[in-house]
Amino acid sequence: MIEFHSVSKIYGEDYYALNNVSLNIGEKEFVSVVGRSGAGKSTLIKLLLKEEAPTKGRVLFKGVDVVKLKGNSIMRYRRRIGAIFQDFRLLPSKNVYENIAFAMEAGGRTKEEIRSDVPQVIEIVGLKGKEENFPHELSGGEKQRVAVARALVQRPEVILADEPTGNLDPIHTWEIVKLLLKINEFGTAIVLATHDKDIVNFLKRRVVTLEDGKVMRDEKVGTYKI
Ligand SMILES: Nc1ncnc2c1ncn2[C@@H]1O[C@H](COP(=O)(O)OP(=O)(O)OP(=O)(O)O)[C@@H](O)[C@H]1O
Ligand SMILES: [Mg+2]
Repeated sequence: MIEFHSVSKIYGEDYYALNNVSLNIGEKEFVSVVGRSGAGKSTLIKLLLKEEAPTKGRVLFKGVDVVKLKGNSIMRYRRRIGAIFQDFRLLPSKNVYENIAFAMEAGGRTKEEIRSDVPQVIEIVGLKGKEENFPHELSGGEKQRVAVARALVQRPEVILADEPTGNLDPIHTWEIVKLLLKINEFGTAIVLATHDKDIVNFLKRRVVTLEDGKVMRDEKVGTYKI
């Protein structure tokens, strides 16, 4: 589903954030991407989100060359990909319901679809009763669940999660991990960039280890080795 072909991302003159990375991620896979700070994890995710362009190589999503997407097709492409981040990125002036509904409106969904789908995802992420809370009235774990709901409501084929538990305490961390596992069971691929050794070792899934922008290890059932 996701293919990196000899991808390098060079910042400035010659700083390789990614250095000749080749990688395939299949549908429904759950892949952890690990590596020291600066190893290139977020860069990998930014290339997939088309927030950055590779300096060399090709990034494909289901055969579509991500680099070549232009105009409206970028929007359509991004809707197929859910993204969650360490800092949640919620709209502070919108409540839980509105944060999720807004993503659907922006995606051109009808009022009927919004009325039917928003309560469903709120239920899935366990935020029933919090619909009218604003982000500042939520715990970190709840904020991240809103972000997951907002990603999920687009029915993405993959969710990219960049340190989603980086700002959470252990209890909320496990809630988010279990939620991602549940979403994966329903058939959505997950790419999880994380520093959390306990999560990676608990998952017993594929682990891609980056070091200085290179894939050092790619194990089908991996552990956290840095
Ligand atoms: N816009 C940029 N301009 C210049 N250098 C950058 C830019 N973005 C990232 N880098 C550099 O590229 C390298 C990889 O960064 P990246 O954010 O991908 O690392 P990371 O593995 O996500 O690290 P962390 O675990 O700290 O989040 C780092 O050395 C970083 O300083
Ligand atoms: Mg990062």
